Amino acid sequence: MQNAVITGVASYLPEDVLTNEDISRMVDTNDEWIMTRVGIKERRILKGEGLGSSELGYRAVNELLRKTGTRPEEIEVVVCATSTPDYRFPSTASIISEKCGIKNAFAYDIQAACSGFLVGLQTASGLVKGGLYKKVVLVACEKMSSMTDYSDRSTCPLFGDGAGAVLLEPSEEKLGVMDAVIHTDGVGLPHLLMKAGGSVSPASHENVDRHEHYIYQEGRIVFKYAVSDMAASVLDIMERNNLTMDTVDWFVPHQANRRIIEAIARRMGLSEEKVMVNIEKYGNTSAATLPICLAEWESKLKKGDNLVLTTFGAGFTWGAIYLKWAYDAK
Ligand code: UT7
Repeated sequence: MQNAVITGVASYLPEDVLTNEDISRMVDTNDEWIMTRVGIKERRILKGEGLGSSELGYRAVNELLRKTGTRPEEIEVVVCATSTPDYRFPSTASIISEKCGIKNAFAYDIQAACSGFLVGLQTASGLVKGGLYKKVVLVACEKMSSMTDYSDRSTCPLFGDGAGAVLLEPSEEKLGVMDAVIHTDGVGLPHLLMKAGGSVSPASHENVDRHEHYIYQEGRIVFKYAVSDMAASVLDIMERNNLTMDTVDWFVPHQANRRIIEAIARRMGLSEEKVMVNIEKYGNTSAATLPICLAEWESKLKKGDNLVLTTFGAGFTWGAIYLKWAYDAK
């Protein structure tokens, strides 16, 4: 079996910035609480009538195609990870494909909440490893502001909008997605969800009045699961692949809370400079956090570097991927 390697990465963050000061004018909070409890200073917001997650996603994919010198018609599959699709149907992947001029691919969405990129990377790389496809785009795009309740101080400081995309291609070299440990446990449902707008509780005046079309999160409970489950899967993947704190070059964690990231890095015994953290600038962009990090650190990554990616999200769904970076920055 051949390997599936990432041959390019790109991201897109919308221009508008929402600062902690701005949020302090909406709800009873302050910069000090948000910085010490979560580690976020500001986040980006997609503004503009009629613009959804595909607007973010297509810009990331266009940049990816430009950077990798790939023509849209060469792409065979587009997988989009999002919890904030443009519509209930059709897929956001189909809209992104149209906007990018990708005409020879099939396209579909996957829903794994904040773990969407991790789950997407494992499944999309499977399409390449199996030998069926040679050019697969995985894009994660989230307009989190569309389901954030800006009257709820317990959730509104946390989320931001953004997108990231990678190109996956086959390789004979021992690089790319080496191993994955991914779990789902439905015990998470009551603690993190959007209660209305799905088939259980279709949109109605009543549930909109109750703000049930926004993110609902029991933060403290999610925090505990996030730390212990991500740490366990990271240690598991390190052990399975004989990785140590010295042989891991980069740790790429989901950006939901700086304290969560620090707790896991401590358990791995990793020094700070190996940990990708940009939560301060962008907040939690759900499925998009990992590719946004990869794009930001791309210039520092070297061929053969050992990366450990980890996420935790609604479901609950969480896990870790061991990725061997496949190229030196140009
Ligand atoms: O990406 C998907 C996975 N999600 C996560 O991994 C998120 C996990 N959870 C968290 O990151 C944290 O639980 C939060 C950041 C959501 C909350 O932080 P916390 O330290 O767990 O705070 P808490 O909910 O326990 O609240 C502590 C106190 C409460 O006051 P009392 O009851 O102690 O008097 C809250 O009312 O902080 C209060 N509080 C706030 N105060 C100022 C809650 N939100 C705010 C706020 N500003 N924005």
